[in-house]
Amino acid sequence: MTRHVLLLNSDKPEVLRALAARPDLRIRVITREAYAGLYADHETAFVDSFEDLTQVERAAHRLARGGPFDHVVAATEKSVVAAGLIRSLLDVPGQTFDQSLWAAHKRAMKQRLRSFDLPVTDFAQVATVDDVPRAAEAVGWPVMVKPVFGAASRSTHRVDSAADFAALHRAGAFAGLARRGQPVQVERLVRHRGEYHCDGVVRGGRVALAAVSRYFTPPFRTPSELNSSWLVDQDAPAAREMLALHERVARALELRDGVTHLEIFATDEGPVIGEVAVRPGGLGISRTWWHAFGVDLWEEFVRAALDEPSDPRARPQDRTLGRIHLPGREDVRERAAALPGVIEALPPAATGTPNVEVHFAAPDPAAVERLHARLCALAEAPA
Ligand SMILES: Nc1ncnc2c1ncn2[C@@H]1O[C@H](COP(=O)(O)OP(=O)(O)O)[C@@H](O)[C@H]1O
Ligand SMILES: [Mg+2]
Repeated sequence: MTRHVLLLNSDKPEVLRALAARPDLRIRVITREAYAGLYADHETAFVDSFEDLTQVERAAHRLARGGPFDHVVAATEKSVVAAGLIRSLLDVPGQTFDQSLWAAHKRAMKQRLRSFDLPVTDFAQVATVDDVPRAAEAVGWPVMVKPVFGAASRSTHRVDSAADFAALHRAGAFAGLARRGQPVQVERLVRHRGEYHCDGVVRGGRVALAAVSRYFTPPFRTPSELNSSWLVDQDAPAAREMLALHERVARALELRDGVTHLEIFATDEGPVIGEVAVRPGGLGISRTWWHAFGVDLWEEFVRAALDEPSDPRARPQDRTLGRIHLPGREDVRERAAALPGVIEALPPAATGTPNVEVHFAAPDPAAVERLHARLCALAEAPA
């Protein structure tokens, strides 16, 4: 029997590969016109942006004239809320509009997590950049400001005081944030000892698998093309605490089936949640899982989205694995591949980003840090 899937995607290749392996799917697609070529074999409707929910709604209604959808698959962070809206409007099983907001809208997310007594920093939502100081007085300086729907630390700023805000504002630092035309999230700065991510597979409302990694440097301080992390010892007390937190987050989101990417700060008072997403972490995290555990997170994502059974098992791991993105030059890829300990150095074409993606392994965390430093040096060395 044919399964009817509505896919919301850009040019993300992983989900396309996983869907292409299933011959019984009829896939209809909402995407941007720039990606039309990728979907020539499918019925397609175009939107200028997934953030424009009126366009998304119209596109979904048009495609639905060809018959109902069994599943809506949102492969990009930007399409999570759009997919939730479509499910709620068209009565398709899976995450509802509310649930998608808990996993994508930074204020709705923190509010939901806090209502379950989960540790999050103080926050407030304001309508415009000009309202930031008032909210910052309430949550307490220093603050981080960011768009409520954001990703990759874009238009995200640290502001230390009212005077700092005024100086930054005068210098035009918030022009990009204001241009987005979205409400602004104001959060008290979390003073932390390190930033982690816990990635997981949730099936039937239970965490089937999860693993904690640590960012070598916080994403705020590192541009995406140098994003990197390593899988920490899962039995260490801090990791266990984060795994327990991840279980509680999955429950708070009422997540039945999905793949998660939870970001956590380690503080002197214990772990504090940064944010959570209900899709595989980007920039190579899925591939790290493959190398570490023999589990394909995008395949798990598609199984969860299509309500197919799955019981993923992690292969035991005795090495420390890491990953890093590097500038997308061929000389960088070649020199990375030649370093001892590097398992794989993927060219930009294989990563769906402009970057080279490197996976590496070492006997222990100290050795993995040394290898990471050598890889970082490649980004700086002249071509
Ligand atoms: N309240 C905060 N305190 C300290 N650092 C923060 C805070 N909020 C964000 N950051 C930093 O900014 C990065 C990006 O913010 P995040 O909320 O994860 O948004 P996104 O990843 O969607 O851009 C985080 O990974 C973290 O390094
Ligand atoms: Mg983040």
